[in-house]
Amino acid sequence: MEVIILPTAEEASEVAARLVARQIREKPDSTLGLATGGTPCKLYQLLVRMHQAEGLDFSRVSTFNLDEYIGLDPSHPASYHRVMEVDFFSQVNIARERSHIPDGMAKDVRAHCASYERAIKDAGGIDLQVLGLGSDGHLGFNEPGSSLASHTRIKTLTERTRSDNERFFTDGHEVPHHVITMGLGNIMESRMCLLLAFGIGKAQAVAASVEGPVTASVPGSLLQFHPRAKVLLDAESASLLIRSDYYQWVYKNKPIWQTHL
Ligand code: F6R
Repeated sequence: MEVIILPTAEEASEVAARLVARQIREKPDSTLGLATGGTPCKLYQLLVRMHQAEGLDFSRVSTFNLDEYIGLDPSHPASYHRVMEVDFFSQVNIARERSHIPDGMAKDVRAHCASYERAIKDAGGIDLQVLGLGSDGHLGFNEPGSSLASHTRIKTLTERTRSDNERFFTDGHEVPHHVITMGLGNIMESRMCLLLAFGIGKAQAVAASVEGPVTASVPGSLLQFHPRAKVLLDAESASLLIRSDYYQWVYKNKPIWQTHL
């Protein structure tokens, strides 16, 4: 696990955007795993800017979003279909037939999850998985207690997550209780993970994920077992880390052969 601490969320998002761009330039038909929520918004803005200003080409890229609320129509402003379309897909040259998001309106959820899994396999697996972190330590919508080997399936949100996400529901619509989410097994099978976490509200979950014991009670801690996980933090979210000075020294003093940005 490489822990990268920068003063602001903006600066950490810039590093994330450069890593995603490098992945796409090195492998134009990369498969990206994508997250939603507040955390990756800046990352998507920066990728859009790179597309417009530098010609970063998404035409051969495939994407798989981590999750979607069950019962929200894709046109609902808080559905992840809508958010991804507005914030990202409509602004880059990504092929819609290669942009996948779980279908929260699926009649047969189990069959849909199985076909989502097949589509990930058919795309060659996920090269780079973007992740946010729940204030309760969740990854995707894998709430505490989720199986560490899980794959795409239905999950029930905790009240904490529902209350954290109320801010995205401005039309009086309640935050759904149920979601479809890729599992922790999917995340572990991805070839590289980029976990982003910003703000003081994430500090405890970050400390537990990065420096605590690996446990299903803190899904983020599973990344300690991932062979290629980078954790991008701002000063606030990193504020409870015991080895923060060490991580910062390591990042600033990388040998030249190891610097990749
Ligand atoms: C959303 C997702 C979630 C969020 C997490 C943090 O696709 O996978 O794990 O990343 O709930 O949400 P924000 O970024 O809104 O704090």
